[in-house]
Amino acid sequence: MDIKSQLAQALVELIDNISGAKLFNAQDIAAMLEIPPDPAMGDAALPCFRFAKHLRKAPPVIAQTIAQGWTRSDLADARSISGYVNFFYNRAAFARGTLQKMIAEGERYGSGDEGAGKTICIDYSSINIAKRFHIGHLSTTMIGHSLKRIYDFLGYRTVGINHLGDWGTQFGKMISAYKRWGSREEVECGGVQALVDLYVRFHQEAKDNPELEEEGRRWFLRIEQGDSEAVDIFDWFKELTLRDVQNVYDLLGVTFDAYTGESFYNDKMEPIVQLLRDKGLLQESNGAWIVDLTDDNMPPCLILKSDGATLYATRDLAAAVYRADTYHFDQSLYVVAYQQDLHFRQLFRVLEKMGYPWAKNLTHVSFGMVGYEGSSLSTRSGHIVYLEDVLDRAIEKSLAILEEKSPELPDKPTVARMVGVGAVVHAFLSAGRIKDVDFWWDRVLNFDGETGPYAQYTHARCCSLLAKAKEAGIDTRGEALWNAEALTDDEAQAVLRVLERFPEAIRDAARKYEPSILTRYITQLAQAYNKYYYDHRILEGAELDQSARVELTDAVRQTLSTGLYLIGIESPVKM
Ligand code: ARG
Repeated sequence: MDIKSQLAQALVELIDNISGAKLFNAQDIAAMLEIPPDPAMGDAALPCFRFAKHLRKAPPVIAQTIAQGWTRSDLADARSISGYVNFFYNRAAFARGTLQKMIAEGERYGSGDEGAGKTICIDYSSINIAKRFHIGHLSTTMIGHSLKRIYDFLGYRTVGINHLGDWGTQFGKMISAYKRWGSREEVECGGVQALVDLYVRFHQEAKDNPELEEEGRRWFLRIEQGDSEAVDIFDWFKELTLRDVQNVYDLLGVTFDAYTGESFYNDKMEPIVQLLRDKGLLQESNGAWIVDLTDDNMPPCLILKSDGATLYATRDLAAAVYRADTYHFDQSLYVVAYQQDLHFRQLFRVLEKMGYPWAKNLTHVSFGMVGYEGSSLSTRSGHIVYLEDVLDRAIEKSLAILEEKSPELPDKPTVARMVGVGAVVHAFLSAGRIKDVDFWWDRVLNFDGETGPYAQYTHARCCSLLAKAKEAGIDTRGEALWNAEALTDDEAQAVLRVLERFPEAIRDAARKYEPSILTRYITQLAQAYNKYYYDHRILEGAELDQSARVELTDAVRQTLSTGLYLIGIESPVKM
């Protein structure tokens, strides 16, 4: 049992004695325990205000009575301070409690079942067809992926959705360009880049030849009407895009449960529009149809254009309803850049006005912009950095570093892939999501700073130490075969404190939709352990002391590995 639970149990008995009645159980008391803001005030504090009614005494008197009656100095020392009983953990008991709990829970340490029976939909990545994946798409992809893993770990059922951008007049133009200047072989070989090139050419030529625009519109109409030639070409464009992006998803380990994109809702919008009309929410405005949101201080939400065409918002309305009907979600998240803030506020408000009770369970998980080496990314300035190139370069650089620093390492390419990808992902998940991310090469691959490779390296360090210990016959994962007194120094205690916080860090990240909380946690754990590692000789001295240090190391290894997994990073055993 961890020390907090033991403390709570002992307190229940004491309070029962003082009051002569059964007032609280250990869970009540554990929930009341607070962490003092200043560590000098102890490790845990029990506020006594809630006992005043039951015990008919002033809180400071109660605190004093509890502190005086406290006999469990094997767990903690107690001191009463103005209505609180402050506890100072016995260091060995704290070490024993924390590690025993971790040993008992093993790989599940930090997980939970609070999500059992609940479903969360997560819309992330949501790429656009016929566009290449650039580093601007990494935030949505990795924040969504990480949230999915975090919620899974907490027992939720999660549904990962890639809401493909696969509808719009641009696809008509692309077909027109393809028919005029493209060839099957060329596009098949060139992939998405060939489509992008065709699209650029279309716009250049359309400047002198306005007929092209009309032709593009006609092709799009043919897609809309289900004309088989148009649909076949369009489906092929889609397939090419997905094939291209799959390489990136494979490198990142990112998966989805559904690829239901905008076009999936073609036949699902009519009932929604009808419902809006029935509810009197639809208004005509210059020939178009809108939902007025003046009362909510927002511009109107455009539902149908004057030619009857539907819009991005119309599709999102249908998608939200579809997700509610299909998955019966308890929460539905949209991991999308903050530029779409207004879109989602409008969307959620319209759904609320339509009377859907689940509309309050929709959340826009927004994030900041991505810059590259100090300048902004934009298609127009030609400043695009493709994700595949970034990952390739990161892997290449990692390989070079590994070749230099660890020439003996087996299977360097695999490790280089884990480290290169880990470096990039870590860089994107290290600051709070609403902050803009600026990507700098020299910061990302550092093995010492607050980076992915630093955490991975610490994990590998733990693994190699454990291998050495095993060779030397030092036991791990034994409940009683280690001496907790060997972990009472400041550095070991600092590591234990970080380890103890892991379940809370995961929940905090889940509550705030903020993987960066875990990213920072991982760095703190790695730093605390490395300090310990440099200051102490782990495999020296009495055998039971060694075992204790090895247990601590194993606990750190385990937590780093789980933590990194939860933010979408692999943990190599050797580096
Ligand atoms: N494809 C869109 C874009 O790149 C993002 C879609 C986000 N999801 C949604 N349901 N609107 O901007």
